[in-house]
Amino acid sequence: MEDSYCYPTHERFDNFYFDRIKMMLDDAVAQMQIRMGWSLEECNEQVCKEADLLSKGYKSGRKNLRYDVLPCRVGYLHTYVGAHAYMFELGLRQESEKLRKRVRQHATLKIASVGGGPGTELLGTLKLLTVPVMGRCTVVFRSWDVLDEWDDVFGIVARHCSADALRASRGQVQIDAQTRSASSTCDIDFADEFGFAESPDIVSLQFVLSEHKNRPDDIVRLLQSVSYQIDHDALVVVTDSNDQRPPYVREMINNAYSEAGLEPIHRVGIPRYVPDNRSALVDYNRDFDRNPRIFFYPKGSSCPFTFVDVLRTKR
Ligand SMILES: C[S@@+](CC[C@H](N)C(=O)[O-])C[C@H]1O[C@@H](n2cnc3c(N)ncnc32)[C@H](O)[C@@H]1O
Repeated sequence: MEDSYCYPTHERFDNFYFDRIKMMLDDAVAQMQIRMGWSLEECNEQVCKEADLLSKGYKSGRKNLRYDVLPCRVGYLHTYVGAHAYMFELGLRQESEKLRKRVRQHATLKIASVGGGPGTELLGTLKLLTVPVMGRCTVVFRSWDVLDEWDDVFGIVARHCSADALRASRGQVQIDAQTRSASSTCDIDFADEFGFAESPDIVSLQFVLSEHKNRPDDIVRLLQSVSYQIDHDALVVVTDSNDQRPPYVREMINNAYSEAGLEPIHRVGIPRYVPDNRSALVDYNRDFDRNPRIFFYPKGSSCPFTFVDVLRTKR
């Protein structure tokens, strides 16, 4: 299947993601001050330092990522969550009709996020279901991550999303969100834990597979442990970097799909920008000495740096 390229120039800028992330950051920084006993200046300094290390870690092939350190998780919330949530939303907008039908029929939407970290995909789901309101629905959102340190930021994101869903939909959209640590990385044991997701309608693997890019067998095993557990009409959403250096991640992931019995329904090359207003974060941008990520491929490149694939199991 040919990739389609998605440039949502028709979308107006709005303040959805960064407005909400601002409130989440207020909570996260307040929590950091209490837990670590740091002043606000010390918190800002630590986030700056960890966010620098994080961005270097990504550039050097996702080495030495320090998600287990709270200032790193707060830096991640500031810099990456808005854009990542938008990509998830964008991948699923292509399936809006199908989702609307499912919501109408079952009044629930069950989403499982593998490597969910802070709950990024829950924020994308919030926008998808409430702008405009898709219908009366309970979202069962289940996330696994190998690092249970994400629990704190996940708790903040989940609390804000739940309150927001109720408010924006006047009580029609309710969220039940939980996270859990994945006891094994890519092992098939993971399949035993899948009951937690209660037969998901959607499984997301967002920026997770490339963390295993030097171990193609792990990528296949992780995808298999998902594909063997889900129904044929469930959607699997994979978002990741199209790293052009060897090993060629896109090609490796494509091969892994077919080995895991998954076939693409839609493939979207990522837009030039996230149509959201970063000015909501202006104080944090100054304090953390960085802007949130909104561009996803190098200027002048014709090849999208990031892709979203929507797949299902082969019959
Ligand atoms: C870059 S973060 C992405 C978080 C979130 N999905 C997003 O898009 O913002 C990748 C996360 O995947 C987790 N992870 C990596 N391999 C995993 C695996 N095999 N099972 C569960 N979590 C995994 C890491 O601990 C990390 O928190």
